[in-house]
Amino acid sequence: MNITVVGTGFVGVVSSAVYASLGHKVTGLDISEERIKALKNSKVPFFEPGLEELLESEQNKGGLTFTTSYTDAIPHSDLIIIAVGTPSSESGEVDLRFVHSVVDSVAPLIKKDTIIAVKSTVPPGTFSELSKRIKSKTDVSFYLASLPEFLKEGSAVEDSLHPDRVVIGSSDDSVIEQLKKLHEPLGAPLIVVSAESAQMGKYAANSYLAIRITFINEIANLCEANGSDIDQVIDVFGHDARIGKHYWYPGFGYGGSCFPKDVKELSHVSKQNGDDSSLFSYITQRNTERIPKLLEEFEKKVGGFDNKKVAVLGLSFKPNTDDTREAPSLHLIPLLLEKGAEVQGYDPKASVTEFIEDTSYSEVSSIEEACEEADVIFAVIEWNEITSFDFSKVFKKSSQYFIDARNQFSSESIKKIGFNYIGIGKH
Ligand code: UGA
Repeated sequence: MNITVVGTGFVGVVSSAVYASLGHKVTGLDISEERIKALKNSKVPFFEPGLEELLESEQNKGGLTFTTSYTDAIPHSDLIIIAVGTPSSESGEVDLRFVHSVVDSVAPLIKKDTIIAVKSTVPPGTFSELSKRIKSKTDVSFYLASLPEFLKEGSAVEDSLHPDRVVIGSSDDSVIEQLKKLHEPLGAPLIVVSAESAQMGKYAANSYLAIRITFINEIANLCEANGSDIDQVIDVFGHDARIGKHYWYPGFGYGGSCFPKDVKELSHVSKQNGDDSSLFSYITQRNTERIPKLLEEFEKKVGGFDNKKVAVLGLSFKPNTDDTREAPSLHLIPLLLEKGAEVQGYDPKASVTEFIEDTSYSEVSSIEEACEEADVIFAVIEWNEITSFDFSKVFKKSSQYFIDARNQFSSESIKKIGFNYIGIGKH
């Protein structure tokens, strides 16, 4: 198939490389000259394990090219995949302006029966507007389909080459056939549903995971208050096959570019349907309150942050990415500074200096440097480099605190070094 993937962000670049690896002729298209120039040289403008290698190998094989020109790419495309961002607007409603702009650019150039598949996360109902926009610019027939993406940052290549399911949202037999054929080599179950169900399924998946995270954080709060241990509690309920043991890490709440915005969208839609106090509004509120509330607790335990030296380890929103969108560090560090702390941040790949311009904040290039003289060490993100670090190397005095904000360390071993250990939902 001749495939054009529009949008060379996270999902776009990974998808382009993966479809090329399946033997298709793929063009990645973006309006950013700078981005395309970099991609032509197999340079990915963000950090994602294994992606540059895959990109380079597919480019060398000749199946993958990049362009800024709609006119060059679109007229030959059998399938156009839209993979641009759908951020939240001020009101929490999804902002579809980038999807609309792609559709407006693509429409006059499509050939007869092109499939336009939307990978961007969009709400059910979006296709009637898209269809109207396309029909206003072309007379040829076309198909709209939904192809929601379920990859996770940090393991995007692996997730895309070995997905746990591929969802095809379409009611047209020929489109379903073509999209099935395209994805069959991935060996994953193919779930064929209506476009609306595919779109809603994506929102439901992300919101459910966000609810799980909020739930485990609230259970951790109770463990903290009643003397139980969150790890043991997870062990107890996780043996129930309906619940399972995975994806239950309490911490600073969920971040990243997907969960916060997708939960907000469901909250917004619920409000539009007359439900002002939906579960989704509550989850958003609890997640937003999470860091300030936890920090108040920590403040009491460490005897205040004023004039303290604090090391913040892990600045990205999760490990194996340099993405800092809705990262805990962006909320945590300004609050620590407000409370009078001097903060040194470290991350293997990410930086937040462009967002935090305060002379009491600096970024350093190693865990050792960040922890030098630190009164309090925050282990925020579970990068392997951080969780496998030997913290006895930076232990100085018995008044030092170690805050294990993702419960990645054994409290015994940290206490044995000499630190005062604080975990989440632990004692
Ligand atoms: C998420 C979904 O997991 C993907 O399936 C989906 O395709 C993607 O959004 C998307 O919509 O594009 P991602 O945002 O990359 O993927 O990251 P996750 O690993 O799911 O983590 C999201 C947030 O939840 C992070 O802040 C993470 O630290 C937090 N989290 C995760 C917890 O606090 N506890 C957990 O147990 C798991």
